[in-house]
Amino acid sequence: MSFRPNLLALLLALPASAFAVQTANTTLLVDIDHRPALSLDGDWHVIVDPYADGLYNFHHELLQHGYFDNPQQPASPAQDHGPVEINFSGMPTLKVPGDWNTQRPDLFYYEGLLWYQRNFDYTPKVGTRAFLHFGAVNYQSFVWVNGKKVCEHEGGYTPFDCDATAALHAGSNFVVVAADNTRHADDVPTLQTDWWNYGGITRDVSLVEVPTQFIDDFDLHLSRTDHTLLEGYVHVEGAPAGSRVTVSIPELHLKTEATLDANSRAAISLHAANLTLWSPQSPKLYTVVFSAAGGDSLADDIGFRTVEVRGTQILLNGQPIFLRGVSVHAEAPIRTGRAVSQQDVDTLLGWAQELGCNFVRLAHYPHDQRMTRTADRLGILVWSEIPDYWALQFDNPAVLEKSKQQLGEMVRRDRDKASIILWSVANETPNTEPRTRYLTTMANLARELDPTRLVTAALLVRTEKTATGSNKIVDDPLGAALDVIGTNEYIGWYEQKPAGADTTNWDIRYQKPLIMSEFGGDARAGLHGAADQRWTEEYQAEIYRHQLPMLNRIPQLRGMTPWVLMDFRSPRRTLPGIQDNYNRKGLISDQGQHKQAFYVLQHAYKTGTVGKDE
Ligand code: GCU
Repeated sequence: MSFRPNLLALLLALPASAFAVQTANTTLLVDIDHRPALSLDGDWHVIVDPYADGLYNFHHELLQHGYFDNPQQPASPAQDHGPVEINFSGMPTLKVPGDWNTQRPDLFYYEGLLWYQRNFDYTPKVGTRAFLHFGAVNYQSFVWVNGKKVCEHEGGYTPFDCDATAALHAGSNFVVVAADNTRHADDVPTLQTDWWNYGGITRDVSLVEVPTQFIDDFDLHLSRTDHTLLEGYVHVEGAPAGSRVTVSIPELHLKTEATLDANSRAAISLHAANLTLWSPQSPKLYTVVFSAAGGDSLADDIGFRTVEVRGTQILLNGQPIFLRGVSVHAEAPIRTGRAVSQQDVDTLLGWAQELGCNFVRLAHYPHDQRMTRTADRLGILVWSEIPDYWALQFDNPAVLEKSKQQLGEMVRRDRDKASIILWSVANETPNTEPRTRYLTTMANLARELDPTRLVTAALLVRTEKTATGSNKIVDDPLGAALDVIGTNEYIGWYEQKPAGADTTNWDIRYQKPLIMSEFGGDARAGLHGAADQRWTEEYQAEIYRHQLPMLNRIPQLRGMTPWVLMDFRSPRRTLPGIQDNYNRKGLISDQGQHKQAFYVLQHAYKTGTVGKDE
């Protein structure tokens, strides 16, 4: 069908903003995995829509292309108002949650709009609100229920909730989600990344009912100055000022009450004399019960610990700690694709524990909530990061708003996770004035949203040749805004040979803790050769053998998260027979093969020959 000139003129005349997606009509229900819910995971019918035909209705006026309003075939010629071409029930299905790229070969590289649809039975209950919960949809999403638009969201790695109360009816309901993973220069992340742009409804979907007055947000954390004092707040959406909230910890026989202010929020303070503090050695979680006068009650599993910086040390519960870590992408082991299940999480964190880790860097975006819930239970500390990655449009205020939104969503979802000690606001960004202003704003926002944790970012470092080797100079101005400095370096892979680490000194211009947030090199699992032969396991192991003594020479090094636990997909990595669309810096292959370097690092972690806690 060719556009008639006036329609084409209309299309061209539209401002770009007509296509801009914004986040609208969403909220974010906290502690969602502790609320009863109707799971909508499973098979959804799908329509692939590369021309975004269903979203931008520039059709001939006679054509009815209502992807989202369940157009029915005309019952009789008299009711025939034009061809109805959309019929979800006859379309193939995709599994939700799950990226589309690894479910259908024809969608492996697909970047565009794809429509999901399913029916579900529901009976509305008086005095409740019903939200459609999405763990994540990459990258933009638009949601309709029974033909009514209920929300839209931008951001591929954070949850959102859409109030569907007014759109739902008793009986069978028709829900449609348009997901678009097209990359844009003014997105977060921007056009280029070093990971696969897995599209779709990549995390769980459910229908969650809450009372009209519901516990919308809360915090309860251990005071840094008094380890018997728990402080925080509760916010009860829809509750009048003066109504009461109760917070209790049954195991400790503790309970306190508070009164909501004009903003439906109450400060909480609770003395707990005999707390068992959460730590990697003792990941103690307490069931905390929040109750609101309107009838809502919400339990959570919370660990109480403090994290802070003292000089160049990181203190956990007032004691210095060294973070023996590894970087992790949300790539599903063995199956590959976006990690979505508890099994994926258990395998990834199990490998980190096998390596001897007490710490993981969840790169480069917030992972599924199962990762941080499981880290809480296992006692693994976490660096959690928003995808302010590489060359964002740092001079674009609209992009800053997107970063702020994603940071806010990450903090709001995971504020209650003891395992998370660091919020990271960026990875490897260019050292420019606009970038430093933008990320300083982000670092300050992180501290404002959550003063109980530390703020970091993974920085690039300068290199200067010296008579005897080289100096790595850490003087990125962004460091001034951070509590903990992260730095990435690839001595032995992207620069110098592995032995180059032996003659490299570090000149860190900040008296702050340093985490080596990336180092390593590629190896194809099972490829063997001389230690100076690239892409072999022996070469990768050689990189680690030279890196570790160098790292031990950095007096303010307080942690490391070598790149990377497991091979992961990236369209930039095409070397045939070696990469085949995978970044091979994993210590473990995507098929679970442990490479020699895994054991080099494991030995160092397990014998304590790297990093000292004091
Ligand atoms: C960069 C970047 C990673 C990337 C890695 C690599 O430092 O932070 O996302 O995968 O290096 O080049 O392998």
